Amino acid sequence: MAYRPTREQEAILAHHADQHARVLAGPGTGKSATLVALVDQLLAGNPAPRVKLLTFTRAATAELAKKVSDHPAAAAERPSTIHSFSISVLRRNPGTGDFPQPLRIADKWEEQKIVHPTLAHRIDVRVDHLDNLIREMAANWEFLQVREHPRVDAAERARFVGAWSEHRQIYGYTLLAELPFALRQALNGVRIMTMVGSKGLTVRATIIAGVDDGIVPMPNADVAEERRLLYVAMTRAKEFLFATWAGQRRGPTARAGRARVRMRRQHSHFFLGGPVRSQDGSTYLERRR
Ligand SMILES: Nc1ncnc2c1ncn2[C@@H]1O[C@H](COP(=O)(O)OP(=O)(O)OP(=O)(O)O)[C@@H](O)[C@H]1O
Ligand SMILES: [Mg+2]
Repeated sequence: MAYRPTREQEAILAHHADQHARVLAGPGTGKSATLVALVDQLLAGNPAPRVKLLTFTRAATAELAKKVSDHPAAAAERPSTIHSFSISVLRRNPGTGDFPQPLRIADKWEEQKIVHPTLAHRIDVRVDHLDNLIREMAANWEFLQVREHPRVDAAERARFVGAWSEHRQIYGYTLLAELPFALRQALNGVRIMTMVGSKGLTVRATIIAGVDDGIVPMPNADVAEERRLLYVAMTRAKEFLFATWAGQRRGPTARAGRARVRMRRQHSHFFLGGPVRSQDGSTYLERRR
């Protein structure tokens, strides 16, 4: 810093680099200046850590880039928006993130002229109302938490989320606001998805739950199609593949594909004659120790 940092700025600069810190201060109070000084200081360390500067808007990125460019050490770290950072990470790691592949971001025109009006029509609400629904969803993605707007009706929200996820699969788009959330999901490691939704992805380990006869294939479903679906799910795994099934079920799936709840369930007949025999879960875990 060319000037003397204030006491508060000093405290921020002295905080332990391994810990999170949130700086909350009014406009023009020197937040950006302190951040740039902090980056400068971090990069002077030995070994210098990897530093990334992220903002929420392009305007803030441009402003920060200007400030950073005055500092020779910090200048090496180009700031970017959290969205473009997410895109670059997700693009470099194909198959991560729960969005239609390949990643394609809907632009403003597509969002406003196509996505919003068709969704509003689908769930039968006014377009300005739909904007609110999308805004609520986007805010939750960007803040990585779920806060439901008290004025949005739960049933309507559910209809909207259902219509939206179907719509994006069909048109193959991802919304800009989703990206921070998509990245967080990808970093979390474990993802829960449907067999249909797993198409096109590859992961290190896959667990397919509920491969009971009567569930896979579903009664009355096209058997060849169900077989293909299970094949899709199984071929996601690069290293480990587990399929689980239950000898007996309780709750809503208790009768799935069985006339009587007490009848012992079997694994999917698709596995018959396969290379691996089914083992009792607890015995399997016991032997692995
Ligand atoms: N300790 C200080 N002494 C003197 N000037 C300072 C000090 N800290 C920051 N400034 C100056 O105050 C001005 C505002 O700082 P800065 O842009 O960092 O604030 P900000 O909190 O990021 O503002 P905004 O809310 O607009 O993002 C800049 O001209 C900066 O150089
Ligand atoms: Mg600032």
